[in-house]
Amino acid sequence: MAIIYCEQRKMFYLESKDVTYAFYINKIGFPEHLYYGKRVGHDALNYAYSGGATSHRAYIPEVNISYNDLPAEAPFYGNGDFREPMVQIMDGKGDRLIQLVYESHEILPVKPALPGMPSLRGGETLKLTLKDMTRELRVILYYTVYEDASAIVRHTEIVNSGTESVDLLRAYSFCLDLPRNDYELITLHGAWARECEMERVPMHHGVMAVDSKRGSSSATNNPFMAVVSPHTDEFHGEAYGCNLVWSGSYVLKAEAGIGGASRILGGINDFDFRWKLCAGETFCTPEAVLVYSSEGLNKMSQSFHDLYRGYLIPEKHVYSPRPVVINNWEGTYFDFDNERLMAIVDAVRGTGIDTFVLDDGWFGARNHAKAGLGDWVVNTEKLKGGLKTIIDYVHNAGLKFGLWFEPEMVNPDSDLYRAHPDWAIHCPGHEPMLSRTQMVLDLTRAEVRDYLVDAVSAILDTHDIDYVKWDSNRALTENFSLGLNADCQQEFHTRWTLGLYDIFERIINSHPDIFFEGCSSGGARFDAGMLYYFPQIWTSDDTDAYMRTRIQYGTSLAYPLSSLSCHVSICPNHQTGRTTPFATRAAIAHLGATGYELDTARMIAEEIAAIPAQVEAYHAMEELILCGDSYRLESTMEGNYFAEMVVAKDRSRAVLTVFRALVMANAETKRVYPVGLEENAVYRIPELEIELHGSTIMNVGLVPKFVREDFTAAVFTFEKI
Ligand code: DGJ
Repeated sequence: MAIIYCEQRKMFYLESKDVTYAFYINKIGFPEHLYYGKRVGHDALNYAYSGGATSHRAYIPEVNISYNDLPAEAPFYGNGDFREPMVQIMDGKGDRLIQLVYESHEILPVKPALPGMPSLRGGETLKLTLKDMTRELRVILYYTVYEDASAIVRHTEIVNSGTESVDLLRAYSFCLDLPRNDYELITLHGAWARECEMERVPMHHGVMAVDSKRGSSSATNNPFMAVVSPHTDEFHGEAYGCNLVWSGSYVLKAEAGIGGASRILGGINDFDFRWKLCAGETFCTPEAVLVYSSEGLNKMSQSFHDLYRGYLIPEKHVYSPRPVVINNWEGTYFDFDNERLMAIVDAVRGTGIDTFVLDDGWFGARNHAKAGLGDWVVNTEKLKGGLKTIIDYVHNAGLKFGLWFEPEMVNPDSDLYRAHPDWAIHCPGHEPMLSRTQMVLDLTRAEVRDYLVDAVSAILDTHDIDYVKWDSNRALTENFSLGLNADCQQEFHTRWTLGLYDIFERIINSHPDIFFEGCSSGGARFDAGMLYYFPQIWTSDDTDAYMRTRIQYGTSLAYPLSSLSCHVSICPNHQTGRTTPFATRAAIAHLGATGYELDTARMIAEEIAAIPAQVEAYHAMEELILCGDSYRLESTMEGNYFAEMVVAKDRSRAVLTVFRALVMANAETKRVYPVGLEENAVYRIPELEIELHGSTIMNVGLVPKFVREDFTAAVFTFEKI
């Protein structure tokens, strides 16, 4: 049994793999958090309670209890807890106080799917209903446990069972009160072409936050935060990882309190948020995934990876070999016709590349980024004979065919905009901003969503398409909908994201045989919400091998390697101008769902000749990428080297990739210590033509021999014999 309730103590023990999450209902009916960490006994865990320091303590007179002293499962506003609340409301009288007490609980064998939004599949779930003491308002907390992942998944429902509407001012997904306040925070900040840079700072007293106000999860701050002990590294120490299953505006906060404890919480961003909850209605928050590791960041990431592969990413694709694509974007940009595309296809025949993806520019007047978005009609001037000609050509060459879409957007210079200017997000009286010469469609409106579902489906249903790349290249501004009443305008961001999920559901679910890849100018929407629909996401528009060692390292903190789409591209690299060896580009692109993105018809013979062996090498390690445990060993964010190892779950095989950024004359010896192997097993390392015990490999280490060149990589394979 993974969820245990002790009636006598009113104590709940939630057990996932090797962790315990515990709280109890205290004498005023308040669910008081007790513990989250390594598995512990079913003891009376409130013995270690300590309210800590106080200041102008406000308390309930009869019982002398102060909410500010209590670790909370669902802190509310207005009754003396001066820390960040999880829920905030205002009723018709302007009354903003709530006081939640235990009403009932239920243990569900299977978690119900969340309505209209992505959620993890699974498992035994505690449904804990709290009731406001003064009105018919309920806050329902859901906690799901997993036998095979050290994580608790939470979400919250707010139910208005009264007769009048209330406004939700804040409706976060979770709150986790931790017992200390000397933690450090690791977050993933970034920008276009520089996603998921790791940042680590000590927590200070007060509130620290990462968020997005952009309408999408963003490249600026990924919706991820790890709260770690000061000495935590990749292999040692405590780490609490928080990640949201949500692709819209969000916030994650950490507050170090005066009492020596700290509070972690978050969900949909409450900046510019107010949701009118009418009588009888329920608001459901997105899920938050809370991973605990006592063995450093690698273990934390492995738990995220196992959880997402096992319970989030579409089952049909998650463990299946991924298409090895040739994408024409960096090869041609908008400048292509049938002949040019066919030449790219011809050049990869027999190389092992198995899918050709036609990127932006095949529709409407889309000969540049300034026109055509929204017009999902094939440009037959450019592609004579329509898509059919190139699709047939690709299929006859033995490849599958993929196609790019960016359904959420519209160029003002498009037939769609000319016909429906009101469908583009704008606020009357204000000039709309452009970004990449485009505007965002108002997905809160059903007629806009219906149009998009029909327009995209019309292409998918009349062509033999195996793969779709779904892109999105700007953030939301002028947050306003002509379809919403004035008092509901601050629901806009949330409703837009729900509208997006509605489109995903309708298009993706009705095309189960098509493989969908997510993208948002690279990783501007790389989040767990997207992974529910898209088994992989284009990690970054930056395809430079050096930058990719940083970006992929950071992205792997929360997301499995198989979800990182990684391409080999041309040099000098289009984003950085850097030249790296072709073999290095492949070695780094192999640490994800690999592919190519260049004009293969114009490659030098030596490089095109290298592709078959590269694809073969990838297939040889593909199962590790899809199913294995990955270990980050060294980072180019900290030094000259990047090293990552992927080990089969049964430890029978592994691959280690070591990358050196710059050559140094007369350099010190570089030694790398592989991990995760079976100590007593003997492994063959073909690259060194040697057989060694796991214990030897891991303790004596390996010394990669790099050629005298910048940006080189060495790959080692370990095969148990
Ligand atoms: C941004 C994507 O990240 C690129 O890969 C490419 O698809 C372009 N958009 C096309 O406009």
